[in-house]
Amino acid sequence: MSNIEENYPIFDSHAHYDDEAFDEDRDAVINELKNNNIVGVLNCGSSVKGSRMSVELAEKYDFIYAAVGIHPEMANELNDEILEEFKSFALKEKVKAIGEIGLDYYCDENPSREIQKDVFIKQMELAKELKLPVVIHDREAHEDTLNIMKQFKGLNGVVHCFSGSVEFAKECLNLGYYIGFTGVITFKNARKIIDVAKEVPIDRMLIETDCPYLSPVPLRGKRNRSENIKFIVDKIATVKNMEINEICCKTILNTKGLLNLNF
Ligand code: NI
Repeated sequence: MSNIEENYPIFDSHAHYDDEAFDEDRDAVINELKNNNIVGVLNCGSSVKGSRMSVELAEKYDFIYAAVGIHPEMANELNDEILEEFKSFALKEKVKAIGEIGLDYYCDENPSREIQKDVFIKQMELAKELKLPVVIHDREAHEDTLNIMKQFKGLNGVVHCFSGSVEFAKECLNLGYYIGFTGVITFKNARKIIDVAKEVPIDRMLIETDCPYLSPVPLRGKRNRSENIKFIVDKIATVKNMEINEICCKTILNTKGLLNLNF
């Protein structure tokens, strides 16, 4: 029997505590996480400012690790100077990944597909050079995302907030990637991602909030935070017919393996 009230250890593999949604009470929220059994958080940069702040948070809090990168919506921010800055960040001990990077064809107001692809490729090259894993954002751009991933064989990473089909998930697994699951799996219309969760072996799953966004049911619409991962884990335990504790422990091992952590 699983019991959602028990405090199992959790690693939030994708969070944005740099987001302005936390401007009022950031330190208070982060200080509470540790008391609530959050053993680790990968804070992912989306912009230049967010990446800098991600590094600062990782330096301030021992259980926070940083990813630096430019999200496709912000693709216009990337230039050679920023790439150099990211390179210098990578020398820091707590910077563990390049992300979030990728393609987002959902919104017409985003930078053009050509610009997004160019910026994605430049950051994949950076990850390869620095020997760091990547955190990939793919929204309605599965085919182009996969084609670029295939050009960088040997790179490891996670396809975060996975939204593709079972077939696409299998292609990502074949390339060695992990699949990231968010609160979306608790939503009413979650059939597609539930099918993916059934197929992806537990040793290739990561769990993440993407906070402050994507709060799971029953907190949908509210500001999200890492403790809410318990609702995601509970759902995955039901879908995969496994114990909550096993899901937590295995996904912590997966995250530590990907990010090369040894705590
Ligand atoms: Ni994100």
